[in-house]
Amino acid sequence: MGKLKIEGGRPLRGEIAVSGAKNAALPILCASLLSADALALSNVPDLHDVETALRLLGTLGVGIRRTEGGVTLQASGVTSVEAPYDLVKTMRASILVLGPLVARFGEARVSLPGGCAIGQRPVDQHIKGLQAMGASISIEHGYVVAKAPRLKGTRIVTDMVTVTGTENLMMAAVLADGETVIENAAREPEVVDLARALVAMGARIDGAGTDRIVVHGVAQLHGAEYAVMPDRIEAGTFLCAVAATGGELTLTRVMPDSMDATLDKLREAGAQIETGADFIRLSMFRRPKAVNMRTAPYPGFATDMQAQIMAMNAVAEGTGVITETIFENRFMHVLEMQRLGADITAEGNTAVVRGVERLSGAAVMATDLRASAGLVIAGLVAEGETLVDRIYHLDRGYERMERKLASVGARIERVGGTPAATASES
Ligand code: UD1
Repeated sequence: MGKLKIEGGRPLRGEIAVSGAKNAALPILCASLLSADALALSNVPDLHDVETALRLLGTLGVGIRRTEGGVTLQASGVTSVEAPYDLVKTMRASILVLGPLVARFGEARVSLPGGCAIGQRPVDQHIKGLQAMGASISIEHGYVVAKAPRLKGTRIVTDMVTVTGTENLMMAAVLADGETVIENAAREPEVVDLARALVAMGARIDGAGTDRIVVHGVAQLHGAEYAVMPDRIEAGTFLCAVAATGGELTLTRVMPDSMDATLDKLREAGAQIETGADFIRLSMFRRPKAVNMRTAPYPGFATDMQAQIMAMNAVAEGTGVITETIFENRFMHVLEMQRLGADITAEGNTAVVRGVERLSGAAVMATDLRASAGLVIAGLVAEGETLVDRIYHLDRGYERMERKLASVGARIERVGGTPAATASES
Protein backbone atom coordinates (compact mmCIF):
# COMPACT_ATOMS: atom_id res chain seq x y z
CA MET A 1 0.00 0.00 0.00
CA GLY A 2 1.36 3.47 -0.93
CA LYS A 3 3.04 5.63 1.67
CA LEU A 4 4.68 9.03 1.71
CA LYS A 5 8.12 9.28 3.27
CA ILE A 6 8.89 12.76 4.53
CA GLU A 7 12.13 14.16 6.01
CA GLY A 8 10.78 17.14 7.87
CA GLY A 9 12.25 20.39 9.08
CA ARG A 10 12.96 22.21 5.82
CA PRO A 11 11.43 25.54 4.82
CA LEU A 12 9.54 25.65 1.52
CA ARG A 13 10.55 28.08 -1.20
CA GLY A 14 9.39 28.48 -4.78
CA GLU A 15 6.35 28.40 -6.99
CA ILE A 16 3.49 25.92 -7.42
CA ALA A 17 0.75 25.96 -10.08
CA VAL A 18 -2.59 25.06 -8.53
CA SER A 19 -4.75 22.41 -10.24
CA GLY A 20 -8.41 22.54 -11.20
CA ALA A 21 -10.86 22.14 -8.32
CA LYS A 22 -11.98 18.60 -7.54
CA ASN A 23 -15.24 19.78 -6.00
CA ALA A 24 -16.09 21.87 -9.05
CA ALA A 25 -14.95 19.28 -11.60
CA LEU A 26 -17.10 16.47 -10.18
CA PRO A 27 -20.50 18.20 -10.52
CA ILE A 28 -19.55 19.74 -13.87
CA LEU A 29 -18.60 16.31 -15.25
CA CYS A 30 -22.06 15.09 -14.15
CA ALA A 31 -23.68 18.12 -15.82
CA SER A 32 -22.65 16.60 -19.17
CA LEU A 33 -25.65 14.25 -18.72
CA LEU A 34 -27.99 17.21 -19.20
CA SER A 35 -27.34 17.61 -22.94
CA ALA A 36 -26.90 15.40 -25.99
CA ASP A 37 -24.22 17.80 -27.26
CA ALA A 38 -20.52 17.74 -26.37
CA LEU A 39 -19.22 19.41 -23.20
CA ALA A 40 -15.53 20.21 -23.60
CA LEU A 41 -13.87 20.77 -20.22
CA SER A 42 -10.38 22.05 -19.50
CA ASN A 43 -8.39 22.44 -16.25
CA VAL A 44 -9.76 19.10 -15.08
CA PRO A 45 -7.48 17.76 -12.33
CA ASP A 46 -5.90 14.33 -12.76
CA LEU A 47 -7.26 12.68 -9.61
CA HIS A 48 -8.62 9.38 -8.48
CA ASP A 49 -12.08 10.90 -7.83
CA VAL A 50 -12.20 12.32 -11.36
CA GLU A 51 -11.33 8.86 -12.72
CA THR A 52 -14.18 7.39 -10.66
CA ALA A 53 -16.62 10.00 -11.99
CA LEU A 54 -15.53 9.26 -15.57
CA ARG A 55 -15.91 5.53 -14.98
CA LEU A 56 -19.42 6.14 -13.66
CA LEU A 57 -20.38 8.34 -16.63
CA GLY A 58 -18.84 5.71 -18.95
CA THR A 59 -21.06 2.98 -17.49
CA LEU A 60 -24.10 5.20 -18.17
CA GLY A 61 -23.07 5.39 -21.82
CA VAL A 62 -21.54 8.88 -21.90
CA GLY A 63 -18.86 9.20 -24.60
CA ILE A 64 -15.52 10.30 -23.09
CA ARG A 65 -12.57 11.70 -24.99
CA ARG A 66 -9.43 12.80 -23.15
CA THR A 67 -7.88 16.03 -24.29
CA GLU A 68 -4.76 17.93 -23.18
CA GLY A 69 -5.53 18.90 -19.54
CA GLY A 70 -9.18 18.07 -19.95
CA VAL A 71 -11.92 15.85 -21.22
CA THR A 72 -14.81 16.09 -23.69
CA LEU A 73 -18.03 14.35 -22.74
CA GLN A 74 -21.01 13.59 -24.91
CA ALA A 75 -24.21 12.15 -23.48
CA SER A 76 -25.97 11.48 -26.81
CA GLY A 77 -26.05 7.71 -26.39
CA VAL A 78 -26.93 7.16 -22.74
CA THR A 79 -27.80 3.48 -22.26
CA SER A 80 -28.32 3.22 -18.50
CA VAL A 81 -29.73 5.39 -15.70
CA GLU A 82 -28.21 3.31 -12.92
CA ALA A 83 -25.26 4.38 -10.73
CA PRO A 84 -24.09 1.07 -9.25
CA TYR A 85 -23.12 0.53 -5.60
CA ASP A 86 -19.57 -0.53 -6.53
CA LEU A 87 -18.83 2.96 -7.83
CA VAL A 88 -20.98 5.05 -5.47
CA LYS A 89 -19.44 3.43 -2.39
CA THR A 90 -15.98 4.53 -3.52
CA MET A 91 -17.10 8.12 -4.11
CA ARG A 92 -20.11 9.72 -2.44
CA ALA A 93 -20.18 12.56 -4.98
CA SER A 94 -21.57 9.97 -7.43
CA ILE A 95 -24.96 11.04 -6.05
CA LEU A 96 -24.52 14.06 -8.36
CA VAL A 97 -25.81 12.03 -11.32
CA LEU A 98 -29.24 11.76 -9.64
CA GLY A 99 -30.55 15.24 -10.51
CA PRO A 100 -29.31 15.28 -14.13
CA LEU A 101 -30.57 11.75 -14.88
CA VAL A 102 -34.11 12.39 -13.61
CA ALA A 103 -34.23 15.79 -15.28
CA ARG A 104 -33.25 14.57 -18.74
CA PHE A 105 -34.36 10.92 -18.82
CA GLY A 106 -37.27 10.96 -16.35
CA GLU A 107 -35.70 8.18 -14.33
CA ALA A 108 -32.66 7.34 -12.19
CA ARG A 109 -31.45 4.51 -9.99
CA VAL A 110 -28.58 5.65 -7.79
CA SER A 111 -27.13 3.55 -5.03
CA LEU A 112 -27.27 5.06 -1.54
CA PRO A 113 -23.65 5.78 -0.55
CA GLY A 114 -23.78 4.21 2.92
CA GLY A 115 -21.42 5.11 5.78
CA CYS A 116 -18.52 7.54 5.69
CA ALA A 117 -15.46 7.98 7.88
CA ILE A 118 -16.06 11.66 8.70
CA GLY A 119 -19.77 11.57 9.58
CA GLN A 120 -23.19 10.23 8.69
CA ARG A 121 -23.65 12.31 5.54
CA PRO A 122 -27.22 11.41 4.55
CA VAL A 123 -28.70 12.53 1.20
CA ASP A 124 -32.21 13.24 2.47
CA GLN A 125 -32.14 16.85 1.24
CA HIS A 126 -31.35 15.78 -2.33
CA ILE A 127 -34.37 13.45 -2.15
CA LYS A 128 -36.66 15.97 -0.46
CA GLY A 129 -35.91 18.58 -3.13
CA LEU A 130 -36.56 16.22 -6.03
CA GLN A 131 -39.83 15.11 -4.42
CA ALA A 132 -40.86 18.75 -4.13
CA MET A 133 -40.24 19.02 -7.89
CA GLY A 134 -42.68 16.19 -8.47
CA ALA A 135 -40.42 13.14 -8.61
CA SER A 136 -41.72 9.94 -7.06
CA ILE A 137 -38.92 8.40 -5.03
CA SER A 138 -38.56 5.03 -3.37
CA ILE A 139 -35.65 3.20 -1.79
CA GLU A 140 -35.33 -0.27 -3.32
CA HIS A 141 -32.54 -2.75 -2.59
CA GLY A 142 -30.23 0.03 -1.40
CA TYR A 143 -30.97 2.25 -4.40
CA VAL A 144 -32.74 5.59 -4.65
CA VAL A 145 -35.22 5.07 -7.47
CA ALA A 146 -36.54 8.36 -8.83
CA LYS A 147 -39.14 8.84 -11.54
CA ALA A 148 -40.68 11.96 -13.06
CA PRO A 149 -41.90 12.38 -16.65
CA ARG A 150 -40.95 16.08 -16.32
CA LEU A 151 -39.83 17.81 -13.15
CA LYS A 152 -41.79 20.91 -12.16
CA GLY A 153 -40.34 24.14 -10.87
CA THR A 154 -41.14 24.89 -7.24
CA ARG A 155 -39.74 26.55 -4.08
CA ILE A 156 -37.37 24.38 -2.06
CA VAL A 157 -36.05 25.27 1.39
CA THR A 158 -33.26 22.92 2.45
CA ASP A 159 -33.02 22.06 6.17
CA MET A 160 -29.30 22.78 6.23
CA VAL A 161 -26.74 24.18 3.83
CA THR A 162 -25.63 21.32 1.59
CA VAL A 163 -23.12 21.74 -1.22
CA THR A 164 -23.82 18.67 -3.37
CA GLY A 165 -27.51 18.91 -2.43
CA THR A 166 -27.69 22.44 -3.87
CA GLU A 167 -25.77 21.29 -6.95
CA ASN A 168 -28.01 18.27 -7.55
CA LEU A 169 -31.19 20.36 -7.27
CA MET A 170 -29.80 23.14 -9.45
CA MET A 171 -28.94 20.60 -12.17
CA ALA A 172 -32.38 19.01 -11.88
CA ALA A 173 -34.07 22.42 -12.11
CA VAL A 174 -32.39 23.58 -15.33
CA LEU A 175 -34.58 21.25 -17.41
CA ALA A 176 -37.69 21.50 -15.20
CA ASP A 177 -40.95 23.06 -16.27
CA GLY A 178 -41.06 26.63 -14.88
CA GLU A 179 -39.15 28.38 -12.12
CA THR A 180 -37.37 26.68 -9.22
CA VAL A 181 -36.23 28.65 -6.19
CA ILE A 182 -33.64 27.02 -3.91
CA GLU A 183 -33.60 28.75 -0.50
CA ASN A 184 -30.79 28.21 2.03
CA ALA A 185 -28.59 27.32 -0.94
CA ALA A 186 -24.88 26.67 -0.50
CA ARG A 187 -22.80 29.70 -1.52
CA GLU A 188 -19.57 27.79 -2.16
CA PRO A 189 -17.51 28.99 -5.16
CA GLU A 190 -17.82 25.48 -6.61
CA VAL A 191 -21.62 25.94 -6.75
CA VAL A 192 -21.02 29.18 -8.65
CA ASP A 193 -18.61 27.42 -11.01
CA LEU A 194 -21.20 24.74 -11.75
CA ALA A 195 -23.82 27.44 -12.37
CA ARG A 196 -21.43 29.15 -14.83
CA ALA A 197 -20.88 25.89 -16.68
CA LEU A 198 -24.64 25.29 -16.85
CA VAL A 199 -25.23 28.83 -18.12
CA ALA A 200 -22.59 28.21 -20.80
CA MET A 201 -24.74 25.19 -21.79
CA GLY A 202 -27.82 27.40 -22.11
CA ALA A 203 -29.31 27.20 -18.60
CA ARG A 204 -30.95 30.25 -17.00
CA ILE A 205 -29.78 30.67 -13.42
CA ASP A 206 -29.77 33.73 -11.11
CA GLY A 207 -28.36 34.11 -7.63
CA ALA A 208 -25.63 31.45 -7.61
CA GLY A 209 -23.24 32.51 -4.83
CA THR A 210 -26.14 33.74 -2.68
CA ASP A 211 -28.42 31.66 -0.47
CA ARG A 212 -31.31 32.03 -2.93
CA ILE A 213 -30.82 30.49 -6.36
CA VAL A 214 -33.51 30.94 -9.00
CA VAL A 215 -33.51 28.60 -11.98
CA HIS A 216 -35.76 29.20 -14.99
CA GLY A 217 -36.24 25.83 -16.65
CA VAL A 218 -35.46 25.48 -20.37
CA ALA A 219 -36.47 22.73 -22.81
CA GLN A 220 -32.92 21.61 -23.53
CA LEU A 221 -29.26 22.49 -23.06
CA HIS A 222 -26.56 22.60 -25.70
CA GLY A 223 -22.84 21.89 -25.87
CA ALA A 224 -20.22 24.21 -24.40
CA GLU A 225 -16.55 24.68 -23.61
CA TYR A 226 -15.67 25.38 -20.00
CA ALA A 227 -12.54 25.71 -17.83
CA VAL A 228 -12.91 24.40 -14.26
CA MET A 229 -12.00 26.90 -11.50
CA PRO A 230 -8.76 26.52 -9.48
CA ASP A 231 -8.80 24.37 -6.34
CA ARG A 232 -9.02 26.63 -3.28
CA ILE A 233 -8.51 23.69 -0.91
CA GLU A 234 -5.35 22.48 -2.65
CA ALA A 235 -4.10 26.08 -2.63
CA GLY A 236 -4.95 26.52 1.06
CA THR A 237 -3.18 23.27 1.91
CA PHE A 238 0.10 24.49 0.36
CA LEU A 239 -0.25 27.84 2.13
CA CYS A 240 -0.75 26.13 5.50
CA ALA A 241 2.31 24.00 4.76
CA VAL A 242 4.57 27.01 4.25
CA ALA A 243 3.00 28.84 7.21
CA ALA A 244 4.02 25.85 9.34
CA THR A 245 7.51 25.19 7.89
CA GLY A 246 8.44 28.79 7.19
CA GLY A 247 9.69 30.07 3.83
CA GLU A 248 8.15 31.79 0.85
CA LEU A 249 5.73 30.29 -1.64
CA THR A 250 4.04 31.70 -4.72
CA LEU A 251 0.90 29.97 -5.96
CA THR A 252 -0.12 30.57 -9.55
CA ARG A 253 -3.37 29.77 -11.41
CA VAL A 254 -5.28 30.38 -8.21
CA MET A 255 -8.44 32.36 -7.32
CA PRO A 256 -7.61 34.42 -4.20
CA ASP A 257 -11.17 35.84 -4.00
CA SER A 258 -12.48 32.38 -3.14
CA MET A 259 -10.08 32.03 -0.20
CA ASP A 260 -10.76 34.95 2.16
CA ALA A 261 -11.38 32.88 5.31
CA THR A 262 -8.15 30.90 4.89
CA LEU A 263 -6.05 33.94 3.98
CA ASP A 264 -7.42 35.87 7.00
CA LYS A 265 -6.48 33.03 9.37
CA LEU A 266 -2.99 32.76 7.93
CA ARG A 267 -2.48 36.53 8.27
CA GLU A 268 -3.64 36.23 11.89
CA ALA A 269 -1.02 33.50 12.32
CA GLY A 270 1.65 36.00 11.24
CA ALA A 271 2.05 35.27 7.54
CA GLN A 272 2.67 38.07 5.05
CA ILE A 273 0.39 37.59 2.09
CA GLU A 274 0.27 39.35 -1.23
CA THR A 275 -2.44 38.57 -3.78
CA GLY A 276 -3.09 39.44 -7.41
CA ALA A 277 -5.85 38.41 -9.80
CA ASP A 278 -4.50 34.87 -10.12
CA PHE A 279 -1.56 34.52 -7.72
CA ILE A 280 -0.88 34.40 -3.99
CA ARG A 281 2.53 34.89 -2.38
CA LEU A 282 2.93 33.91 1.25
CA SER A 283 6.04 34.57 3.36
CA MET A 284 6.52 33.27 6.87
CA PHE A 285 9.75 34.02 8.65
CA ARG A 286 8.63 33.36 12.22
CA ARG A 287 6.98 30.66 14.24
CA PRO A 288 3.22 30.85 13.53
CA LYS A 289 0.86 32.22 16.19
CA ALA A 290 -1.94 29.82 17.13
CA VAL A 291 -5.38 30.75 15.78
CA ASN A 292 -8.91 29.91 16.87
CA MET A 293 -11.13 28.67 14.10
CA ARG A 294 -14.68 27.43 13.61
CA THR A 295 -15.73 25.66 10.42
CA ALA A 296 -18.84 26.93 8.67
CA PRO A 297 -20.46 26.90 5.23
CA TYR A 298 -18.90 29.37 2.75
CA PRO A 299 -17.92 32.17 3.20
CA GLY A 300 -17.02 30.76 6.62
CA PHE A 301 -13.92 28.67 7.22
CA ALA A 302 -14.03 25.46 5.13
CA THR A 303 -14.23 22.15 6.97
CA ASP A 304 -11.92 20.83 4.23
CA MET A 305 -9.15 23.12 5.62
CA GLN A 306 -9.60 22.17 9.28
CA ALA A 307 -6.95 19.44 9.55
CA GLN A 308 -4.36 21.61 7.78
CA ILE A 309 -4.88 24.56 10.16
CA MET A 310 -4.67 22.13 13.05
CA ALA A 311 -1.27 20.95 11.80
CA MET A 312 -0.05 24.57 11.70
CA ASN A 313 -1.44 25.22 15.19
CA ALA A 314 0.39 22.12 16.45
CA VAL A 315 3.73 23.94 16.08
CA ALA A 316 2.45 27.46 16.76
CA GLU A 317 3.11 29.82 19.63
CA GLY A 318 0.15 29.71 22.03
CA THR A 319 -3.08 27.76 22.08
CA GLY A 320 -5.72 27.54 19.34
CA VAL A 321 -9.27 26.26 19.70
CA ILE A 322 -10.75 24.53 16.67
CA THR A 323 -14.48 23.84 16.41
CA GLU A 324 -15.88 21.57 13.71
CA THR A 325 -19.53 22.31 12.96
CA ILE A 326 -20.11 20.53 9.63
CA PHE A 327 -19.18 16.87 10.18
CA GLU A 328 -19.52 15.03 13.49
CA ASN A 329 -16.48 12.77 13.21
CA ARG A 330 -13.79 14.87 11.66
CA PHE A 331 -11.02 14.77 14.25
CA MET A 332 -9.53 11.41 13.42
CA HIS A 333 -6.21 13.04 12.57
CA VAL A 334 -5.87 14.17 16.20
CA LEU A 335 -4.62 10.80 17.45
CA GLU A 336 -2.18 10.57 14.56
CA MET A 337 -0.86 14.10 15.17
CA GLN A 338 -0.37 13.15 18.81
CA ARG A 339 1.94 10.35 17.59
CA LEU A 340 4.09 13.12 16.13
CA GLY A 341 4.19 14.86 19.50
CA ALA A 342 1.33 17.36 19.07
CA ASP A 343 -0.45 18.49 22.23
CA ILE A 344 -4.13 18.30 21.30
CA THR A 345 -7.18 17.59 23.44
CA ALA A 346 -10.36 16.86 21.53
CA GLU A 347 -13.79 16.59 23.06
CA GLY A 348 -16.98 16.51 21.05
CA ASN A 349 -16.60 18.95 18.19
CA THR A 350 -13.85 21.03 19.82
CA ALA A 351 -10.10 20.50 19.76
CA VAL A 352 -7.71 22.52 21.90
CA VAL A 353 -4.28 22.64 20.29
CA ARG A 354 -1.39 23.79 22.47
CA GLY A 355 1.50 24.58 20.17
CA VAL A 356 4.78 22.76 20.82
CA GLU A 357 8.22 23.88 19.65
CA ARG A 358 8.88 20.74 17.66
CA LEU A 359 7.19 17.62 16.39
CA SER A 360 9.14 14.41 15.88
CA GLY A 361 8.68 12.13 12.88
CA ALA A 362 6.79 8.85 13.24
CA ALA A 363 4.67 6.41 11.27
CA VAL A 364 1.10 7.68 10.97
CA MET A 365 -2.05 6.55 9.21
CA ALA A 366 -4.27 8.71 7.00
CA THR A 367 -7.99 8.29 7.68
CA ASP A 368 -9.59 10.54 5.08
CA LEU A 369 -8.62 12.94 2.34
CA ARG A 370 -8.11 16.18 4.26
CA ALA A 371 -6.80 14.42 7.38
CA SER A 372 -4.03 13.08 5.11
CA ALA A 373 -3.18 16.61 4.04
CA GLY A 374 -2.93 17.68 7.69
CA LEU A 375 -0.58 14.77 8.41
CA VAL A 376 1.62 15.65 5.43
CA ILE A 377 1.95 19.21 6.76
CA ALA A 378 2.79 17.91 10.24
CA GLY A 379 5.36 15.57 8.65
CA LEU A 380 6.95 18.49 6.76
CA VAL A 381 7.57 20.25 10.09
CA ALA A 382 8.50 17.23 12.20
CA GLU A 383 12.14 16.42 12.88
CA GLY A 384 13.30 13.18 11.28
CA GLU A 385 11.31 10.77 9.18
CA THR A 386 7.51 10.60 8.98
CA LEU A 387 5.80 7.83 7.05
CA VAL A 388 2.20 8.61 6.11
CA ASP A 389 0.37 5.36 5.36
CA ARG A 390 -2.85 4.91 3.33
CA ILE A 391 -2.18 7.80 1.02
CA TYR A 392 -4.78 6.52 -1.42
CA HIS A 393 -6.96 8.99 0.48
CA LEU A 394 -4.65 11.77 -0.67
CA ASP A 395 -4.72 10.58 -4.29
CA ARG A 396 -8.47 11.07 -4.38
CA GLY A 397 -8.15 14.84 -4.14
CA TYR A 398 -4.57 16.07 -4.65
CA GLU A 399 -2.83 16.00 -8.01
CA ARG A 400 0.78 14.81 -7.61
CA MET A 401 1.07 16.46 -4.22
CA GLU A 402 4.47 14.98 -3.39
CA ARG A 403 5.95 16.18 -6.68
CA LYS A 404 4.62 19.69 -6.17
CA LEU A 405 5.99 19.82 -2.62
CA ALA A 406 9.36 18.33 -3.68
CA SER A 407 9.65 21.07 -6.33
CA VAL A 408 9.62 23.72 -3.58
CA GLY A 409 12.23 22.05 -1.40
CA ALA A 410 10.37 19.42 0.62
CA ARG A 411 12.07 16.07 1.08
CA ILE A 412 9.13 13.88 0.27
CA GLU A 413 8.72 10.73 -1.79
CA ARG A 414 6.16 8.04 -2.49
CA VAL A 415 7.19 4.57 -1.44
CA GLY A 416 5.41 1.39 -2.61
CA GLY A 417 1.88 0.65 -3.68
CA THR A 418 -0.58 1.95 -6.20
CA PRO A 419 -3.59 4.13 -5.44
CA ALA A 420 -6.80 2.38 -4.34
CA ALA A 421 -10.24 3.72 -3.53
CA THR A 422 -12.30 3.85 -0.35
CA ALA A 423 -15.45 5.64 0.73
CA SER A 424 -14.12 8.26 3.13
CA GLU A 425 -13.91 11.26 0.90
CA SER A 426 -14.55 14.91 1.24
C1 UD1 B 1 -19.19 18.83 -0.01
C2 UD1 B 1 -17.76 18.67 -0.46
C3 UD1 B 1 -16.87 18.32 0.72
C4 UD1 B 1 -17.07 19.32 1.87
C5 UD1 B 1 -18.53 19.49 2.19
C6 UD1 B 1 -18.78 20.60 3.20
C7 UD1 B 1 -17.99 17.92 -2.74
C8 UD1 B 1 -17.85 16.81 -3.73
N1 UD1 B 1 -17.70 17.64 -1.48
O1 UD1 B 1 -19.63 17.56 0.48
O2 UD1 B 1 -15.53 18.34 0.27
O3 UD1 B 1 -16.38 18.85 3.01
O4 UD1 B 1 -19.27 19.81 1.01
O5 UD1 B 1 -18.26 21.80 2.75
O6 UD1 B 1 -18.31 19.04 -3.10
N2 UD1 B 1 -26.44 16.77 5.07
C9 UD1 B 1 -27.63 16.16 5.45
N3 UD1 B 1 -28.51 15.76 4.46
C10 UD1 B 1 -28.26 15.95 3.13
C11 UD1 B 1 -27.06 16.58 2.77
C12 UD1 B 1 -26.17 16.99 3.75
O7 UD1 B 1 -27.88 15.96 6.64
O8 UD1 B 1 -29.10 15.55 2.31
C13 UD1 B 1 -25.49 17.24 6.11
C14 UD1 B 1 -24.17 16.47 6.06
O9 UD1 B 1 -24.24 15.27 6.80
C15 UD1 B 1 -23.23 17.49 6.67
C16 UD1 B 1 -23.78 18.83 6.19
O10 UD1 B 1 -25.13 18.58 5.82
O11 UD1 B 1 -23.30 17.44 8.08
C17 UD1 B 1 -23.06 19.43 5.01
O12 UD1 B 1 -22.86 18.43 4.03
P1 UD1 B 1 -22.78 18.75 2.47
O13 UD1 B 1 -22.57 20.20 2.24
O14 UD1 B 1 -23.92 18.11 1.78
O15 UD1 B 1 -21.45 17.98 2.07
P2 UD1 B 1 -21.19 17.31 0.68
O16 UD1 B 1 -21.94 18.05 -0.37
O17 UD1 B 1 -21.35 15.83 0.77
